[in-house]
Amino acid sequence: MKHFLSINDIGDIKSAISTCQAIKRNPYLGQGIAKGKTLGLIFLNPSLRTKISTIKAAQNLGFNVLPIDVSDAWALEYNEGAIMDQDKAEHIKEAAAVIGRYCDIIAIRAFAKLKHKAEDEKEQIFQSFVQYAGKPVVNLESALRHPLQTLADLLTIESYREKLEKNKKPKVVLSWAPHVKALPHAVANSFVEGIQKMDYEFVITHPEGYELDDSFTKDAKVEYDQEKAFCDADFIYVKNWSSVKEYGKVINQDKNWMIDHKKLLHTSQAKVMHCLPVRRNLVIADEVLDSEHSIVIEQAENRLYSVQYVLAELLHSNNEKLVKNEYKEAIYDEC
Ligand code: CP
Repeated sequence: MKHFLSINDIGDIKSAISTCQAIKRNPYLGQGIAKGKTLGLIFLNPSLRTKISTIKAAQNLGFNVLPIDVSDAWALEYNEGAIMDQDKAEHIKEAAAVIGRYCDIIAIRAFAKLKHKAEDEKEQIFQSFVQYAGKPVVNLESALRHPLQTLADLLTIESYREKLEKNKKPKVVLSWAPHVKALPHAVANSFVEGIQKMDYEFVITHPEGYELDDSFTKDAKVEYDQEKAFCDADFIYVKNWSSVKEYGKVINQDKNWMIDHKKLLHTSQAKVMHCLPVRRNLVIADEVLDSEHSIVIEQAENRLYSVQYVLAELLHSNNEKLVKNEYKEAIYDEC
């Protein structure tokens, strides 16, 4: 793995999940393999889970963690050949290259701005760091994807899969739910991308007009009737997203799409998932979040093991033989 920009950067997803499970059993596997290495963190948007899990996982491996403060110096020029006589004081070519000299891995969060689809789809900051930093880049949520979340989501489903009826293929439903703000598509896109690598029955449900980009959904089943979609479901992944067709717009806030206890009656005692933060009694009712149906806290805990796997894997793939051998002994031999 050279960079971790999407779940597709993981070659064998089942083996990755099994390594995450080994890390979960012993988070100090591979302790010290990142001694003397620096992880640079660039957050252009707020975070609770991603920031803390990444720092904690990096510390477990022995990284020095370097949060890069971008608050005032981040008016960067991205255009090739720009005459920089306006407000932009530094070009991304120098900024990324310099950060690459200070860090061994660079992790970035930069959400969609939800104004212009084509602009968001360029994922300019990620592409620029890949091009100019010369170091592995980790996606901590981009305009299009949140693959660390997806890896944790798959790890969570696989942990509960063992409790299902033997040999039952899990039925997983991704359900849109109402929200007051226009939210990006990254979590839903990545989840769809990851789920399609697994042997699950998968259904997406949302009101008409909220179709996700078909470059992600491909031939995934879409059921516009939420009740029908939930029938016999084992896992319901709840998430709001804004319209793709009317890019970044909230076109429907139908409160009937909120997940409450009644909606779970015809499921197979479904476990309810959400990436968090979640707005209670708007997206998911208290009676569900406070019940045994909810596995959102374990899902958030699993963020630790997914990012620790990715950081260790990037070191393994991009560093000298010594690290490879230590890593192999510490982690792979455990699986
Ligand atoms: N799920 C998730 O990415 O949470 P944060 O925005 O708090 O990092």
